[in-house]
Amino acid sequence: MTDLINQIRNDFPALHQEVNGKPLVYLDNGATTHKPNAVIDAISDYYRTDNSNVHRGAHTLSDRATQRFEDARKTVQAFLNAAKAEEIVWTRGTTESINIVANTWARQNVKAGDQILVTAMEHHSNIVPWQMLCEQTGAELIPIPVSAAGELDMAAFAELLNERVKLVSVVHVSNALGTINPVAEIIEKAHAVGAKVLLDGAQAVAHWDIDVQALDADFYAFSGHKLFGPTGIGVLYGKEALLNAMPPYQGGGEMIEHVSFGKTTYNSLPYKFEAGTPNIAGAIGLAAAIEYLNGLDRVALAAHEDTLLARSVELAEQLGGIQAVGTAANKASVFSFLLEGAHPADVGTLLDQQGIAVRTGHHCAMPIMDQFCIPGTVRASYTFYNTLEDVETLFRGLEKAKMFLL
Ligand code: ALA
Repeated sequence: MTDLINQIRNDFPALHQEVNGKPLVYLDNGATTHKPNAVIDAISDYYRTDNSNVHRGAHTLSDRATQRFEDARKTVQAFLNAAKAEEIVWTRGTTESINIVANTWARQNVKAGDQILVTAMEHHSNIVPWQMLCEQTGAELIPIPVSAAGELDMAAFAELLNERVKLVSVVHVSNALGTINPVAEIIEKAHAVGAKVLLDGAQAVAHWDIDVQALDADFYAFSGHKLFGPTGIGVLYGKEALLNAMPPYQGGGEMIEHVSFGKTTYNSLPYKFEAGTPNIAGAIGLAAAIEYLNGLDRVALAAHEDTLLARSVELAEQLGGIQAVGTAANKASVFSFLLEGAHPADVGTLLDQQGIAVRTGHHCAMPIMDQFCIPGTVRASYTFYNTLEDVETLFRGLEKAKMFLL
């Protein structure tokens, strides 16, 4: 495995640099992942050769750009195992994907007195759009409780379900805790009362392949930049029938069929939701990231990530004074913790001085931090290009931070 990981690391140029005089140890993959050469080259190649606007021009470059852009959509379709490419809508990222559903599907289907369920461990991007909707419609937003270990209370979820629940919008993997939520069971139970389900897959897609048809997800959202692709591009998957029935999100070019001052009609899927010139290079870069991943043994790499997490738990016990935050039985490779007696921000600064990049703070998940009565955590979020040596360097760094701060 070590040889394979070292070989993979050679594909990621940004990993090979010094930060503050030390070799970079990048453990902030939950915030954004680094990009392999395949992605950087695909974006560069697009701008060097085919750069043109899509779906518009009657010239060869535009045809080539359109072909690459629509091929990229098919790559995402296959990645999610969506039934049709038309079900893949390009967005700026997970946040915009969720906002589209809140401003279109929910506007049509959620009324005063209805309920939307989220979890207490959501990222703000899966709380605030629903709060805004509820303020405007008189619907109610209800969090499904989360245990001290960071696991969903599925009995409480079952009790919350009733025919007034129109949507269950749940994070697939918690960015703050690493919890993998039982999304198949959530979907089955929500569908039984007629509710639709949106999954925030921002932190899930980097770890395993997703099958939206097997899950029977109504909507699935993710961001390119957490999947080794570029920033500013993301995806909203929606079942065709739902997307077809939804009104457009933004008005402008591309999303129309015919415009007149008397009446405007809208384009077919997915263009109805893609007003304006899209992020063409972003879509091509994201597809390159997926193709890169398709060339790897993702099951073996997910097992390697589990090893990194398990080693973190061992080393935390050996070091002492570490309080793990989020100890769910089913977890992705996120080690969120507190160094007892030290503020997370101070720990982060001391680690950065040693070339170790982690995220500190509330991780845009203030409600779960409030529930645990903590200001935030230090978070090491691992991906497959991290090594056991990275984990050991983190804990050597923490030992130094402990000596300095405590
Ligand atoms: N939501 C991203 C994170 O967890 C930015 O770091």
